[in-house]
Amino acid sequence: MCGIVGYIGEKPVYDILINGLKKLEYRGYDSAGVMIYNNELLIKKSKGKVSNLENLFSNKKDKKGTIGIGHTRWATHGPPNQVNSHPHVSNSGEISLVHNGIIENYDSIKKILLKKGYTFSSDTDSEVLVNLIEDIKKSKKIKLGKAVYYALKQVVGAYAIVAFDSTNPKELVGARLGSPLAIGVGESEYYFGSDATPFLEFTKRCVYLNDNEMVIVNLKKGLTLREIKKDSIIDPYVQELKQDIEDVEKGGYEHFMLKEIFEQPQSITDTFRGRLISPDEKISISSLKRHYETFSSANRIIFISCGTSWHSSLLGEYFFEELLRIPVEVEYASEFRYRNPVINKGDIVIPISQSGETADTLAAIKMAKEKGAFLYGICNVVGSSIARETHTGVYTHAGSEIGVASTKAFSCQISLLLLMGLALGEKLGTIDKKRYQRILNELYELPKTIEKVLKSNSLIESISENYLEAANFLYLGRGYHFPIALEGALKLKEISYIHAEGYPAAEMKHGPIALIDENMPVVVIATKKGNYHKVVSNIMEIKARGGKIIAVVSEGDEEIEQLADHIIEIPNCDELIAPILANIPLQLLSYHIANKKGCDIDQPRNLAKSVTVE
Ligand code: AGP
Repeated sequence: MCGIVGYIGEKPVYDILINGLKKLEYRGYDSAGVMIYNNELLIKKSKGKVSNLENLFSNKKDKKGTIGIGHTRWATHGPPNQVNSHPHVSNSGEISLVHNGIIENYDSIKKILLKKGYTFSSDTDSEVLVNLIEDIKKSKKIKLGKAVYYALKQVVGAYAIVAFDSTNPKELVGARLGSPLAIGVGESEYYFGSDATPFLEFTKRCVYLNDNEMVIVNLKKGLTLREIKKDSIIDPYVQELKQDIEDVEKGGYEHFMLKEIFEQPQSITDTFRGRLISPDEKISISSLKRHYETFSSANRIIFISCGTSWHSSLLGEYFFEELLRIPVEVEYASEFRYRNPVINKGDIVIPISQSGETADTLAAIKMAKEKGAFLYGICNVVGSSIARETHTGVYTHAGSEIGVASTKAFSCQISLLLLMGLALGEKLGTIDKKRYQRILNELYELPKTIEKVLKSNSLIESISENYLEAANFLYLGRGYHFPIALEGALKLKEISYIHAEGYPAAEMKHGPIALIDENMPVVVIATKKGNYHKVVSNIMEIKARGGKIIAVVSEGDEEIEQLADHIIEIPNCDELIAPILANIPLQLLSYHIANKKGCDIDQPRNLAKSVTVE
């Protein structure tokens, strides 16, 4: 969702802004724009890709300047077009602003400004904000920083902003509430980014703003951080980032999604690092160790999350109830936050998120915290808002995930959930020792086993050729494979725009079976163990009605081979490991179908990588 970049220093700003915006493309956007200051403001904006914006810079002179801000917009107020794109400029032409988030009370502020004679050319809430800042600055005769401060006291909603005032062109002002903003600290230069990727190649020193904080970076005075609510100056915490620029590049793969699918063995190795050192040693997750007592006395565990992370949560429920014997509930964060859920002391709430910035998940965390729950977060992005808002938690360490469709982050989430389930089950004495050891051995080998599954890539690519014209897909799984069926369907929808539904296999006869005919491909996850024979019966029901069957089966399965149109084998394994493996062919199937259809895989239409607005 909207991406922000900014720079103030001595380097030419054009490349920094354009390359920075490209690094943020993964967030999802529909238009882009930049402001460059070179003794006067130059604003260029365009609908569509950053490359369209670049085409507007045919004149070299326009690229000159060492201060600027840039933005990729994901439309909320008003359609994606040139006028609604950012940066927005105040009526006097002095202040320019980029904004990610939603100003909920923009309409009432707009009415007041209209009465004062302000005019507006766009439909956006952001144009209202930049004029509010201007109005305050002029009426109080104060500098930009103070004007931003007073303006933000009046607005309701979520924002990350960067503002520039051409009457004082030595500084940039940023602020955040609910949407992320990072500041890169160089030698006499400062960078802004919605995350650190736009400036990683220049500096690894980074200040992540917290909610209700604003920053003024001034070429003479340096960086000043202020808490808006308390109106106090605070010491910035400058982090040394460990991420490398290679993490956010494609490394020879056609798409980030494919790169990330193939990175999964390494990502899971990183998830397990220091936690699963060898199958003969105890699992060591430090935040769990500190809170074994809290888990052993928990009345209930509630997972909250959205999208793919919700599918992880569902599998988390299956793992935890099996291994811990503690009641577990799974909630969509967006629903949870707006109903009045019963939360008591003794409840553990586990938010799961790749980005750590999903607005609904964050809001649900805040609500659960107020009601007295203990918050144990699972997220991927280090230092993200969710990591900071929870009492404690664990990082998945999947590495940067750029493809909008989540792949490796999901695999790391579910592998970590299983590891946590084993650690807790062993501690609580709710898992049989032999079973514990068997699953732990298999988890230890998981990266290698995934390497084997990835060898099916070309087979899956050839299977995909048969389904490019399909309008619908059904995904079926039972037990531990049901969340995987949901995830498989979501992946296909997201990147190929083919309608797909995930169902528990046995539910098919309660309705979806009516859809089955020779035009309906059905992906069935049917590995040995668990409910295997029942799923075989479901496959027969599909076959009897002419449906096309793509089955993910255990190595050596001859029964389903006779029934299915295509089979994809995964190694034989414990039924708790099987969903982690079965998911991988489904990722590849979606990828190849979408790629052959010519879809924009890493930036699917209408989608944003981190959904920072409601
Ligand atoms: C995944 O492929 C999706 N793009 C999306 O459903 C995502 O999982 C969801 O928005 C939650 O994001 P989070 O994990 O960053 O909180």
